[in-house]
Amino acid sequence: MKLVFATNNKHKLDEVRKITAQHGIEIVSLADIHCQDEIPETANTLEGNALQKARYIQNKFGLDCFADDTGLEVEALNNAPGVYSARYAGNSHDSEANMQKLLHEMEGKNNRKARFRTVIALLIKDKQYYFEGIVNGAIATKKRGVNGFGYDPVFIPEGYDETFAELGDAVKNQISHRAKAVEQLDQFLASLNL
Ligand code: IMP
Repeated sequence: MKLVFATNNKHKLDEVRKITAQHGIEIVSLADIHCQDEIPETANTLEGNALQKARYIQNKFGLDCFADDTGLEVEALNNAPGVYSARYAGNSHDSEANMQKLLHEMEGKNNRKARFRTVIALLIKDKQYYFEGIVNGAIATKKRGVNGFGYDPVFIPEGYDETFAELGDAVKNQISHRAKAVEQLDQFLASLNL
């Protein structure tokens, strides 16, 4: 079975391909289908953005597709940056600036609880499905580690002392928000017996 994953983020593609390969599901990226469009993400929920991206691809290319949207929800910041995680420090989608802003906002805060939440929207023919994955954790007081991407150097998953960026991909792929959402997607696709 072949499905478009509406992303060009290599880290995400690797994470997802490792999980879905076990069931013979082939994931193709936007680059693979020669899509260079800036796909709009203008909804104000993770669900809305994921669906918007998947629908754009299905409408334009007529291919079954899924898309994800992820937010970092920080308890002491009323669940910010949430759906605005990519643009937290401005429109340039700059991870370094986003982390600096987050660390600044968290200065002096004792409650450092946070979670990553991923929503996947899947469109197969005329049906739509959602899958969600959550990993609880805490915001570090400074950046640590070099692996991964985005907010990984400042997120410490529950049950660990290291950040995602210190733990590396092998551990992250076992416990991450996206891994949990993709596992559900994978189980669902396997159950369809396509
Ligand atoms: P997106 O919606 O998945 O593109 O991500 C929204 C924001 O969350 C971006 O700033 C990403 O860098 C960040 N993000 C998404 N997934 C992860 C992750 O697994 N680790 C760290 N940051 C992430």
